[in-house]
Amino acid sequence: FGNGLLAGRHVVVSAGPTYEDIDPVRFIGNRSSGKMGFAVAEACVLAGARVTLVAGPVSLTSPAGVARRIDVRSAAQMHAAVLEASAGADIYIAAAAVGDYRPEQVAPCKLKKQAGADLVLTLAENPDILASLSALPEHPFLVGFAAETHDVATYAQDKLRRKKLDMIAANQVGEGLGFETADNALTLYWNGGSRELPRAGKAELARELVACVAERFRGARA
Ligand code: PMT
Repeated sequence: FGNGLLAGRHVVVSAGPTYEDIDPVRFIGNRSSGKMGFAVAEACVLAGARVTLVAGPVSLTSPAGVARRIDVRSAAQMHAAVLEASAGADIYIAAAAVGDYRPEQVAPCKLKKQAGADLVLTLAENPDILASLSALPEHPFLVGFAAETHDVATYAQDKLRRKKLDMIAANQVGEGLGFETADNALTLYWNGGSRELPRAGKAELARELVACVAERFRGARA
């Protein structure tokens, strides 16, 4: 595949989940393993790009050739890391499953069980990384993902417009689909077009996604 499609380009890729701490021993997380984002990072390296990988808590080693890896835990940390790494970058591909909410307060000590009483957590909204980038006067070519359990096309196209993205890669998630699995299927949407990437291993799928991103990126810059 080493096709040079992104030679000389700096690509930032986010991968994995975020963990939002409740207290020193508990957190709110999600089922992202990081496999999809790490495969995208690898495909970008193979396409000749300089790759910065911003990773949530995952147990994966970086693909060979990744120039820089920044490990983060929370959505706020991922937000700061992606914004810093994206300054001057050509493309940002957001494969991370970022928590939309965090506990409003992180308890300094382990919360004790109060037998017979419910525990109520108040959640505060996290900043949206893609929306923060698209609001900047100068920003990279923005590729989002959309993980949906239903009405995938409708929600994905809504996110494409609302977050002002150049492209979105939509996947159906649920039992045995999208999260954690070795393979996946994607539908790519952009303003005025779409492309189906049928079910395949995440490495192969990522290479097809990156080829399409490179094509649209060249078109956008032409
Ligand atoms: O990691 P794996 O186990 O391999 O699973 C892969 C995957 C299912 C996690 C991946 O393919 C995927 O769909 N990633 C995006 C998951 C997600 O959080 O989607 P979303 O529809 O909630 O978010 C939409 C987009 O906005 C995403 O690109 C997300 O990175 C971005 N976002 C979300 C919230 C936030 N605060 N800031 C963001 O930038």
